[in-house]
Amino acid sequence: MRQANIAVLVSGGGTNLQALLDAEKAGTLVSGKIVLVISDKADAYALTRAKNAGVRTETVLKRDFPEKAAFEARLVELLTEAKTDLIILAGFMRILSADFTSRYPNRILNVHPALIPSFCGEGFYGLKVHEAALKKGVKVTGATVHFVNEIPDGGEIILQKAVDVLPGDTPEILQRRVMEQAEWILLPKAAELVSRELTEEQ
Ligand code: GAR
Repeated sequence: MRQANIAVLVSGGGTNLQALLDAEKAGTLVSGKIVLVISDKADAYALTRAKNAGVRTETVLKRDFPEKAAFEARLVELLTEAKTDLIILAGFMRILSADFTSRYPNRILNVHPALIPSFCGEGFYGLKVHEAALKKGVKVTGATVHFVNEIPDGGEIILQKAVDVLPGDTPEILQRRVMEQAEWILLPKAAELVSRELTEEQ
């Protein structure tokens, strides 16, 4: 069976990347194979996770590509070279232009640490999302996996899962609970669902 070639874009710790790598190892992600990990940060621990799993890594840094168009052109070059079928944004902290996203309709997934349409869009990333949720006083938050289009966090929703906010939560505690109870489960599941659809199409 042909597998979809998956490229994962990261910027940080890479726990979501780890969930994908673990799913591959466990045989729950079978329709897709992670062939490339690209980071826009040289010191992202996600790169170490990829190397430990024997996955090819590349960095595309802002200092080397200060212009967004050149930065994205380099991404496209690497993605094309790796024959990428599916791109997964797993804690990738840069917003991609419409020019980039329109090249890959229904072929870019993102995991967002809230129940979209709450706490999403430009400026809502990482811990800031959980800070905003706590400030608002919501009792339930969660995570969303969605397709990426030209609107930040605006593409079609694929999977969502709710997570309770508990008394005494800090942004860090809530972030961890949302990751454990939602993100690390949803992202590999969505990766398998979409990879299967892509490979069945062919
Ligand atoms: C995750 O919580 C992810 O949902 C979030 O950043 C964290 C990255 O953690 N992404 C966004 O906020 C994107 N808008 P990780 O590097 O350990 O996977």
